[in-house]
Amino acid sequence: MISITDKVKHRIRLGSLNCSACARSYPITNFIPRFVARQKNYAESFGYEWSRHWQTQLDRYSGLPISRERFFRETGWDKQLNGQIILEAGSGAGRFTEHAASTGATVISFDYSSAVEANYRNNGNSQNVLIVQASIYEMPFREDYFDKVFCIGVMQHTPDPQKAFICLSKALKSGGKIAIDVYQKYKWWKQVTITRYYVRPLTKKIPFPELYSFCRLWVKFWWPFIGLSAKLTGRRFLNRFLLIPDYRDIHTFSDEMHREWATLDSFDMLSAAYDFPQSKGSVISWFKKAGLTEVDVNYGGSLVVGRGSKK
Ligand SMILES: C[S@@+](CC[C@H](N)C(=O)[O-])C[C@H]1O[C@@H](n2cnc3c(N)ncnc32)[C@H](O)[C@@H]1O
Repeated sequence: MISITDKVKHRIRLGSLNCSACARSYPITNFIPRFVARQKNYAESFGYEWSRHWQTQLDRYSGLPISRERFFRETGWDKQLNGQIILEAGSGAGRFTEHAASTGATVISFDYSSAVEANYRNNGNSQNVLIVQASIYEMPFREDYFDKVFCIGVMQHTPDPQKAFICLSKALKSGGKIAIDVYQKYKWWKQVTITRYYVRPLTKKIPFPELYSFCRLWVKFWWPFIGLSAKLTGRRFLNRFLLIPDYRDIHTFSDEMHREWATLDSFDMLSAAYDFPQSKGSVISWFKKAGLTEVDVNYGGSLVVGRGSKK
């Protein structure tokens, strides 16, 4: 048995994990244990997106502490967690993995899609990070095991967010803490104004390369106009209508990087197989159903952010 702290020394590029109890075998490819079927699954739009944007949202690439601040704000966890074990569900390219690892804890980070390859490029060399391909619904981990569990930017993209939450909460050990966020479901009169919910049922059927090329051109074409519209009106409504996330008045990076983020997020919202926003009340009910205590659920921008502990 290789301990996680020794794992970089003992990295296995190609191999298998064999379970003597259930006689099943799981491949290890490109240093990543795979607990998913070989065929592509519903999350593969994310695999596509993170393979193209494997660095885009990483703080070490943007030069701004955007993910770091969000990670510690949403989790509320200490900056030092030496000796603890953290589970990250739905890592994407690993923008939060690096900050979880910065606490000194051992981080087991998994994702259902081939985004694990991007995360391996970004965080695979960290001594205290282990990257695994698996689904929240069939986690290959012990129950009642982890000190901390976090899941940021993922729940709304699963077919059954409540079930996903219950699965995750089972991984927590007694006294452990969980932190999640999910897109906010607004009152109906505001929800009906969000254009992506009309367009996405069609766009998610378009092959990823075509949709991605479209998003890139769409952003390039509209970019000067949405900038002008925001300047003239003082409001960012044109970009919302056109489904082009524009962070120019939020983050201070180069125009090229702004367009990179816009292309990534535009593709993200148009390609996802599932997009189930949640009300604050629903999220509170998940925590109650899971039997968690110290429940703290709040709005955070366009998100509902929830934290709790296991008795
Ligand atoms: C919008 S991305 C967010 C990635 C990362 N957490 C971030 O915020 O940058 C959503 C991620 O959830 C993953 N995902 C979706 N369903 C999943 C499941 N059942 N189990 C694990 N990961 C899942 C996708 O593959 C994708 O990488």
